[in-house]
Amino acid sequence: MGESGSALARDTDRRTLVAIPDRTDVHAAWLPPEAFRAVGSRRVLVLGEGLLVDTVREEATRACARHGGGVRHRPPGGNGTADEPFDLVLALSTAEAPAVVTAVRDEFRRTSGQDAIGDEGFVLAHRDGVTVVLADEPAGLLYGFFHVVRLGETAFDAARPAEHHRPAMRRRMLNHWDNVDVHPVMGQVERGYAGGSIFWKDGALREDLTRVRAYGRLLAACGVNALSVNNVNVHRTEAHLLTDRLGDVAAIADELRPYGIRVHLSVNFASPVILGGLPTADPLDERVRQWWARATERVYQTIPDFGGYVVKADSEGQPGPFAYGRDHADGANMLADALAPYGGVVHWRAFVYNHRQDWRDRSTDRARAAYDHFAPLDGRFRDNAIVQVKYGPMDFQVREPVSPVIAAMPATRLAVEFQVTQEYTGQQRHVCYLAPMWSQVLGFRPFGADGPSVADIATDADTGGAAERAVRTAADGGAHAGGGLVAVSNVGDDRFWTGHPLAQANLYAFGRLAWDPRLDPVAVLDEWIDLTFVPSATADPERLRRTLHAMMDESWLTYERYTAPLGVGFMVRPGHHYGPDVDGYEYTPWGTYHFADRDGVGVDRTRATGTGFTGQYPKPWSDVYESLAECPDELLLFFHHVPYGHVLRNGSTVIQHIYDTHFEGVEQVAEIRRLWEKLDRELVSPEVHARVSELLDEQLRCAEEWRDQINTYFFRKSGVPDARGRRIY
Ligand code: GCU
Repeated sequence: MGESGSALARDTDRRTLVAIPDRTDVHAAWLPPEAFRAVGSRRVLVLGEGLLVDTVREEATRACARHGGGVRHRPPGGNGTADEPFDLVLALSTAEAPAVVTAVRDEFRRTSGQDAIGDEGFVLAHRDGVTVVLADEPAGLLYGFFHVVRLGETAFDAARPAEHHRPAMRRRMLNHWDNVDVHPVMGQVERGYAGGSIFWKDGALREDLTRVRAYGRLLAACGVNALSVNNVNVHRTEAHLLTDRLGDVAAIADELRPYGIRVHLSVNFASPVILGGLPTADPLDERVRQWWARATERVYQTIPDFGGYVVKADSEGQPGPFAYGRDHADGANMLADALAPYGGVVHWRAFVYNHRQDWRDRSTDRARAAYDHFAPLDGRFRDNAIVQVKYGPMDFQVREPVSPVIAAMPATRLAVEFQVTQEYTGQQRHVCYLAPMWSQVLGFRPFGADGPSVADIATDADTGGAAERAVRTAADGGAHAGGGLVAVSNVGDDRFWTGHPLAQANLYAFGRLAWDPRLDPVAVLDEWIDLTFVPSATADPERLRRTLHAMMDESWLTYERYTAPLGVGFMVRPGHHYGPDVDGYEYTPWGTYHFADRDGVGVDRTRATGTGFTGQYPKPWSDVYESLAECPDELLLFFHHVPYGHVLRNGSTVIQHIYDTHFEGVEQVAEIRRLWEKLDRELVSPEVHARVSELLDEQLRCAEEWRDQINTYFFRKSGVPDARGRRIY
């Protein structure tokens, strides 16, 4: 390989079409040079043309320059490579390709019974000593390339029958809650825990956007293909991104395009008033509709592959259709109509609730709000209007039931929204690997074991599995495309991208689960470990791998143990949401209560005696959650108000469970800190070691604070001592 590889390298057309950023001041995350060794030491042939093919070619060229391989590229109609030996062929078509590519194509047709590989899909095979990636479209070639990188040597070491890979979700999107102007309360990035924005700084677009390109590269390597560039709370300056500051959005789109990522924009519903000087933003007013049509036309003239709009309306102070006596379908459809001629979509968020509640009023239940507003509108949304639903009915808590809205709108395209940024899960100071939670949500079956999963509902019919689709059609009585998966990004201008180096795993895992929701989160973590730390290149591969799994596999459950118990949620410091404050929100307008008194705790959301929220679920869950005996322990206090002596399904009383989990959670944090301290600094690089060590100190301090405040609070309320006599204050 070595010798002919370098001959090929000399042969390679070095014209740089797509500049790959090379920022050594920024952590390489899951694309360190070492991760490209297997590909980079091969003889690679790239066949095809197009921007994303250029990207593949540049990626391969860079890898080969570093690791001794070589790259040949041939556009269609080129010649002179058919008889040369290659180890890896990435081909857009079989025309003029080496015979092995045609053989793979035939095998794929024969075994799958289909012809199309799909917009973003690829076929991977290894036969006759050659690894082949075959795609219909350039994007498929790019994803195939990164898949080979992920497989490393295993992509080359044994025969592999033709495998068809394609994303379950057509749109795999990140929302950035980045502000252009530094917001006086929320800062540059709302709920951002990784420094400033990679796009914006002090009111302007950053001059150097190489970091944006590098970000796009990381996202493509885990499967993300869309992002919105500004906060869903669209303040005055940010509103102008739609019109006179559109050039800034175009500049970001230019950086992301070579990695197959489309740009979306959060827009202010009142834009026709704020920007257009109209007296109204009424979605049924013809002037308003024309204003949006014209604004959107200009957007597409400037950014032809623009993705669409993201809207937070009538929520937490944002303007919306209610002001004009219209509903959310009226609002969303107006924007959908403006976007339709260009193939754009509007993501309309279902996060709508009354945040000016009176805590004395027991009839209003925030958990009910999204369903009450949106379920009656099912069937009224345009095809390019996607209703974007947070995974739980409240707000990204460490434990919530799946939002009943997801099961309630069979005739609407729904996207499910996660929060990669760890607002309520440790703010990137705590280790909290979230993929197990997401995986649980995606696998949840709202209609029971025989019905579709949340992932099925979010899956686009055009790309999802036919079998799953059939089940879904039977359960909900209508087939339609899902809206994909969305998450709030956790990235900032921090050297490690995510503040906590281990929080990178959440971003990586989000992309992978959006590509394939059936992936095992522990296996995804393993991929991330392999790429990021390349254990095989360290002195003690197993030790490193073992330590990271021990620290991260269950870290979500650990976080749950030392924070708010049994699904009750919140108990955080108001405003910034970090650290414990049991009664912090108890008498506020936000609708986030636990109702603890001397006898018991929890929110009665039953139909029999409570807010009736359980009735928003289809069977079997409406009955399971209603029943004190059947409700899963981890959600008990979300659905029921119970005495402290109530015996859980696990045999413990509620109060003893609170004590036990809080002591246990802190012990687990102390243990992961010990494991990390024992790990040789060189196995992960001294700077990663130092940053994680520092954060583990803070995690332990904060976990102890949670333990002591929660235990003390409930001991004082209930008067029930810990059965094991441990220290409570
Ligand atoms: C949470 C978060 C807000 C955010 C909101 C949203 O409530 O604290 O900062 O604006 O979610 O999702 O819109």
